[in-house]
Amino acid sequence: MVDLSVKVADLTLKNPIIAASGTFGFGQEMAEFFDISALGAISTKGFTRLPRKGNPAPRVAECDCGMLNAVGLQNPGLEVVLQKELPFMRSANATIIANIAGDTAEDYIYITERLAQENIAAIELNFSCPNVKEGCITFGSDPQIIESLTAECVKRSPHPIWVKLTPNVTSISDMAKAAEQGGATAVSLINTLLGMIIDIETRRPILHNNTGGYSGPAVKPVALRMISEVYNSVSIPIVGLGGISSAEDVAAFMIAGASAIQIGTGLLVEPSLPWKILAELPELCRKLKVDRISELTGTLELWT
Ligand SMILES: Cc1cc2nc3c(=O)[nH]c(=O)nc-3n(C[C@H](O)[C@H](O)[C@H](O)COP(=O)(O)O)c2cc1C
Repeated sequence: MVDLSVKVADLTLKNPIIAASGTFGFGQEMAEFFDISALGAISTKGFTRLPRKGNPAPRVAECDCGMLNAVGLQNPGLEVVLQKELPFMRSANATIIANIAGDTAEDYIYITERLAQENIAAIELNFSCPNVKEGCITFGSDPQIIESLTAECVKRSPHPIWVKLTPNVTSISDMAKAAEQGGATAVSLINTLLGMIIDIETRRPILHNNTGGYSGPAVKPVALRMISEVYNSVSIPIVGLGGISSAEDVAAFMIAGASAIQIGTGLLVEPSLPWKILAELPELCRKLKVDRISELTGTLELWT
């Protein structure tokens, strides 16, 4: 019997499959059709202190080998999340990763404090949304801010703090090191790559926001390269994501250095994908000659 359980620092997950933030809501719609408690965890839609309407439409568009989104963090706000969404997720026995975002450092700190008494597995600080004007990616592109804001949140939280990094930087390792210095329990990477698609008839960008975050199969090689690089730069665990759409992709991300993985765009294309992959993992582990899937993590042998 293959052991699919993994550890992200002290947190044990029953398997490495996490639903990625922004592609699974708070699990309500999915729970009507699937057993959401079977997943390793669910990273919630990124939520903010106050409700947000997000950006004007069109804000999602399919494109070559993936999609572009500029949703702009539409969410019901902290109070609704505390009163309705988290209780629902708990009632469904889901393992909750609270993905949080803010315009200011105080926003992150405030939400972190308000989550202190909540029964959640971890907080994921989204320092990487490319579709909002304030905070987020601005924070995630500055190692000093990553370190200091991570430290402020770590200080105030009994929960593990994961830092979600943007690939839209020159050195992802420098950002990961800053998160580690700030006391992060883990880093999640990657968020979306900033991109643009154009309607040649109107000569306008297709997204009303002009730019959006690129995700899906096309970003997978970028994610794998960054995970491999970060694995060799920090000692904290990595939660890997970016274009995962098969059990083989999960294995590749773990070999590159991920302790657990997240699936985003893949499940928008095929909602049953996380459960399908979960069913395929034992056979793949046998083929790769491991009894425990966690044995794959960081086993990449780079050419010298
Ligand atoms: C429609 C959409 C909404 C997203 N919203 C969030 C979010 O609220 N917080 C966050 O950290 N990442 C968000 N992301 C990024 C994903 O969680 C993930 O990092 C990215 O899409 C790469 O993984 P994928 O290729 O598997 O989708 C969003 C992605 C998409 C496509």
